[in-house]
Amino acid sequence: MTAPAQFPDGFLWGTATAAHQVEGGNVNNDHWEMEHAPHSPFAEPSGDACDSWHRWSDDLDLVAGAGLTTYRFSLEWSRIEPAEGEVSRAALDHYRRIVDGCRDRGLAPIATLVHFTMPRWMMHDGGWTGPKAGDRVARFTELALPAVADAEYVATINEPNLMAVQPVIGAMARRGEEIRGLPVPDQGVAEALIGLHRRSMEVLRGAGSAPAGMTLVGLEYIDEGGQEHLQTARAAMMDQFLHAAAGDDFVGLQIYTAQRFGTDGLIAPPADRQTLAHGMERRPEALGAAIRYASSVLPETPLIVTENGIATADDADRIAFTTDALRGLAEAIAGGGDVRGYVHWSLLDNFEWMLGFAPTFGLVAVDRETFARTPKPSLAWLGDVAKRNGLA
Ligand code: BGC
Repeated sequence: MTAPAQFPDGFLWGTATAAHQVEGGNVNNDHWEMEHAPHSPFAEPSGDACDSWHRWSDDLDLVAGAGLTTYRFSLEWSRIEPAEGEVSRAALDHYRRIVDGCRDRGLAPIATLVHFTMPRWMMHDGGWTGPKAGDRVARFTELALPAVADAEYVATINEPNLMAVQPVIGAMARRGEEIRGLPVPDQGVAEALIGLHRRSMEVLRGAGSAPAGMTLVGLEYIDEGGQEHLQTARAAMMDQFLHAAAGDDFVGLQIYTAQRFGTDGLIAPPADRQTLAHGMERRPEALGAAIRYASSVLPETPLIVTENGIATADDADRIAFTTDALRGLAEAIAGGGDVRGYVHWSLLDNFEWMLGFAPTFGLVAVDRETFARTPKPSLAWLGDVAKRNGLA
């Protein structure tokens, strides 16, 4: 029999969403425009998403009602600043109310300032890598300060390491090349995003904000005879970002899967181990492995698992996957990893970017016509883990 996995006192347990994936009607951001472009690569538009713009308090009730203790959500910049320099006080108040709503329910709010989307005006004027991006991110962070003043943690940018891979995938797709897994990030974009994170951190630090940092995609790197390829890929995707995060208050890690490297580089996962989304390998062991690696690079920096989950229509498999992942996490903590919380992706079956609504990562199903929420058994299960602060 496996020993029960226990977690440190005060460990946070929760679940996450991101603005564009759940709010609906984000007509002023870059993704809305890309979703509606001719020949859009998006399977479908985000539309009303889960209507969480209106239903956020029902969502918080579900999280708190299950017994969880933290909720991660993001601010939508294009709602706060729909035109450059034009600030919506109402949108800022909206996010302030979500933070208060978390506190009222005993949930520690984790607020992400940028989760992939940017306002349309910014996309048309340089985007993330343009010369004005640094000043704009700094100003947006300043605008957001009152909304996130009572957050438990603030994350600047969600997965800059994955954002820097997107342009490479786009170029490969246009050339008709086979995409076997995650290629290495574009170095220029990686450096630009690290610079934006720094600008945002300066503002947060200057204002004495809640503990702040960035969130990164974390991966397990498996050597199948391709040690050199593995090292190069990990240096570009993980090491440079982890080093950039040294000195931050925490690093969020979002871990779903592994990458395998053979003599010719990346190896596609065996077909029988692919999940429903992105052809990713079903690999619960990745959680513990990626946490161990991040702790070895940044032994002094607290870590939070800000995302981990699986896209599956089989909720029993979600529970099985998460159980195995949490065992690995408990072992990584027992081995010395300073991990402060576990946040499951996702609260809701939501808009999965280019794949539309088909992949279901949620602990809660959402009716696409009525937006009615139906908790899956995994929600109560995760709540029980939280109440026990460990696995049975
Ligand atoms: C992102 C989420 C996304 C999830 C599952 C993460 O990379 O932060 O927005 O939905 O993965 O694909």
